[in-house]
Amino acid sequence: MGQKYTLAILGGTGNEGPGLALRWAKAGHTVIIGSREAEKAQRVAAGINAKLGAPLVSGMTNLEAAQACDVAVLTVPYAAQNALLETLKDVLRGKTLINVNVALNPPKVAQVYIPPEGSASEQAQAILGPDVDVVAAFQNVGAHTLEDADHPIECDVLVCGDKKAAKAIAIQLAGDLGTRGIDAGPLVNAKVVEGLTSILIGINIRYKVPGSGIRITGLP
Ligand SMILES: NC(=O)c1ccc[n+]([C@@H]2O[C@H](COP(=O)([O-])OP(=O)(O)OC[C@H]3O[C@@H](n4cnc5c(N)ncnc54)[C@H](OP(=O)(O)O)[C@@H]3O)[C@@H](O)[C@H]2O)c1
Repeated sequence: MGQKYTLAILGGTGNEGPGLALRWAKAGHTVIIGSREAEKAQRVAAGINAKLGAPLVSGMTNLEAAQACDVAVLTVPYAAQNALLETLKDVLRGKTLINVNVALNPPKVAQVYIPPEGSASEQAQAILGPDVDVVAAFQNVGAHTLEDADHPIECDVLVCGDKKAAKAIAIQLAGDLGTRGIDAGPLVNAKVVEGLTSILIGINIRYKVPGSGIRITGLP
């Protein structure tokens, strides 16, 4: 049994957040959905609780959620991340932030985009500074794959970060989702992992599937 965390899913009201919340709450973590609007967060949390059959998930503003958590998980559109992180910088100090965001360049979301900062994850670390441990993870697991908690997930989660302890948290949380977390090296490697998401989006379109994924072979 791994450690149980209080997780804040910032921007957890969209496509990606609720599936993560559902699976982590089921695994015994305390989960808070964060939003710009507390009422919206509470509404989404109530929908997740209805699926769980128990009031395990709560909803708050992003600021309150970031304050209350041990570990924050960021799921907002790339274009929105910097402004949001600026407002949360102080409350996240001393914590781990798991960045699920991908640097996408709409409308060409199926083409790999490497921003000047390298990746959304490196950009998050630059904004938050050395007092927050940013880890990149879950970028290659689509919302559709996460939403049915009884459905096993057949993919791996590549975890990039500069602090081993923070990566260990994300690797445990990957296991708690029903996937396998793999240490994929330092945060600078996140650009490749984020780029893989664009490749998977293109594969989903070309092969008409809802959620292609990646798996690493050759590991014990
Ligand atoms: N969807 C997927 O399958 C998937 C898979 C892997 C990675 N990702 C990545 O995960 C991130 C979230 O994806 P998503 O599909 O869940 O996004 P989304 O549904 O479009 O947005 C998520 C939430 O972000 C908040 N938000 C939107 N604009 C904002 C702004 N200007 N400022 C602050 N918050 C804002 C909204 O919450 P409130 O209105 O409640 O504040 C919204 O519900 C993206 O970076 C995406 O690339 C997505």
